[in-house]
Amino acid sequence: MTHASVLDRISPLYERVRRVIPLIEWPVFADDIDTILRLKRERNAVILAHNYQTPEIFHCVADITGDSLALAREAMKVDAEIIVLAGVHFMAETAKLLNPARTVLIPDLRAGCSLAESITAADVRLLRQRYPGVPVVTYVNTSVAVKAESDICCTSGNARRVVESLGVPRVIMLPDEYLAQNIARQTQVEIIAWAGHCEVHERFTPADIRQVRIDYPGVVVLAHPECPPNVVAEADYAGSTADMTNWVGEHQPARVVLVTECSMADNISVHHPKVEFVKPCNLCPHMKRISLAGIRRSLETLTHEVTIDPSMAARARLAVERMLSI
Ligand code: 13P
Ligand code: SF4
Repeated sequence: MTHASVLDRISPLYERVRRVIPLIEWPVFADDIDTILRLKRERNAVILAHNYQTPEIFHCVADITGDSLALAREAMKVDAEIIVLAGVHFMAETAKLLNPARTVLIPDLRAGCSLAESITAADVRLLRQRYPGVPVVTYVNTSVAVKAESDICCTSGNARRVVESLGVPRVIMLPDEYLAQNIARQTQVEIIAWAGHCEVHERFTPADIRQVRIDYPGVVVLAHPECPPNVVAEADYAGSTADMTNWVGEHQPARVVLVTECSMADNISVHHPKVEFVKPCNLCPHMKRISLAGIRRSLETLTHEVTIDPSMAARARLAVERMLSI
């Protein structure tokens, strides 16, 4: 049973999550939160958490939160000795690429990504042979090996800017076919896509959106650009997880649905008690591999350390740094 002094110590944190974590569940998290906070101090560690992490991670132990772009930018600035990446593997690799002097840990090595799995470095080399001279814009949701074969990276928050920054009529954009198609609708640049998909966002359909509008009159629909274009077309706004967060903050809709991973709504709703957050949403099984218990274990045992193959590091870093310089 959780000691009363532990509950006392962390009780101010409960105020942050009381709208999304019932009081009866709070003691289940208390020991892990208390121990993680202590281990962070002892180990000189910081926790970077993606917007899809659960509220007890996002609001109670994370030092820095954000979308893929923000996490990459912030990882670069960390001067603590250890970065624990509460997110998926490509995010931890990006942190290590940008801040190689730090120890980067990921609590569960199985936290992958269907997009990262959809393409290999050999595939990128074949694309280059097929389209000689056409620059390769690579979504950060990829392995270091794929980034190393690329000219520049992008995230969902800067994809259009990155594509247009190249000043060319045609680019290869990989591996997310839907992100590529959604960006193609916003730009004059011709985009050659790959057929990778996010297993979370590809499950949404236009019929889902239409049904939500019937069931929840007046609802505003925000969609992630990894959704199929016919889903984005039904939405009122499309943007990265940070863009969606900002949109809700600025517009304060009475009702909103976030067509994306489930934890997003929980995390944002904490800050906007007057906004009604409507489901549906889909869970990302990879993001959900990360738990408080896993983060605690990671800090206790200093596992799993993320390393980068030195033969690829410089080229992959260049592709990410080019993106960050835009
Ligand atoms: P964001 O960069 O928008 O946070 O997206 C990352 C991701 O994995 C979305 O599925
Ligand atoms: Fe990958 Fe999709 Fe999960 Fe994001 S939500 S980590 S793109 S599988």
